[in-house]
Amino acid sequence: MKIMFLGDVMGRAGRRAICENLPRLRTEWRLDFIVINGENATSGMGLSGAHAKTLLDAGADCITLGDHAFDQKDMLQFIEQEPRVIRPLNFSKAAPGKGARLFAARNGRKVLVTQVLGQVFMKRPFDDPFSAIEPVLKTHPLGGQAAAVLVDVHCEATSEKMALGHYCDGRASLVVGTHTHVPTADAMVLPKGTGYLTDAGMCGDYHSVIGMQKDEPLRRFITGMPKERFTPATGEATLSGVYVETDDRTGKTVRIAMVRDGGLLQTAAP
Ligand SMILES: [Fe+2]
Ligand SMILES: [Fe+2]
Repeated sequence: MKIMFLGDVMGRAGRRAICENLPRLRTEWRLDFIVINGENATSGMGLSGAHAKTLLDAGADCITLGDHAFDQKDMLQFIEQEPRVIRPLNFSKAAPGKGARLFAARNGRKVLVTQVLGQVFMKRPFDDPFSAIEPVLKTHPLGGQAAAVLVDVHCEATSEKMALGHYCDGRASLVVGTHTHVPTADAMVLPKGTGYLTDAGMCGDYHSVIGMQKDEPLRRFITGMPKERFTPATGEATLSGVYVETDDRTGKTVRIAMVRDGGLLQTAAP
């Protein structure tokens, strides 16, 4: 199965790039399943129902969220009506929506998508992601009902993401990090067959401070004083993420590649 995962969509620039380029990426990479992290798609803070619909209409098969899951209040209701939006498993016991779900891919096979939040350097204390994900992995063994298992680890610390990658090795097709908005260069297949990338990066304008127009973040770093609100940068976005090809029988990853499309980020050239 051919799967693409794209990192945090940042504001209008990110949404525009998704709408303009996702259909082409689906064709070029012959994708069976596309996951997008949408936690910053609405003004950089959360995801509204309307913008979730925009991303789904553009071709996303599933949207994951993150610590900003419910910054847009209408997501509290929207997520109950739209099964294609997944929130973190360990967000809160009271949170609406689901943290894991089986989807039908375009090739007719089933894909499990789940997301956990990390604990290290996060603003709020969330429950332990390792014990949160364990029952989900147990009830959906790779190569059983789920031909692929995709895990979005929404964490700040690279160490925590890497530890979660090893924890899931052999039991997930892909473990991919989100949240930092900066892509890492460590795409690999772990020893037991799990595709792994510490961070997918963002789908946003990289001429920015992690997707926000740079003046206010710079001012706050330099003076320690806020003056204005953060607003998403509006230049051309790079779509950033990862592609995996999985074995349909075992669910393990046979090929992994970084994806960077458009905007400021460069891809390798000879
Ligand atoms: Fe984010
Ligand atoms: Fe986040």
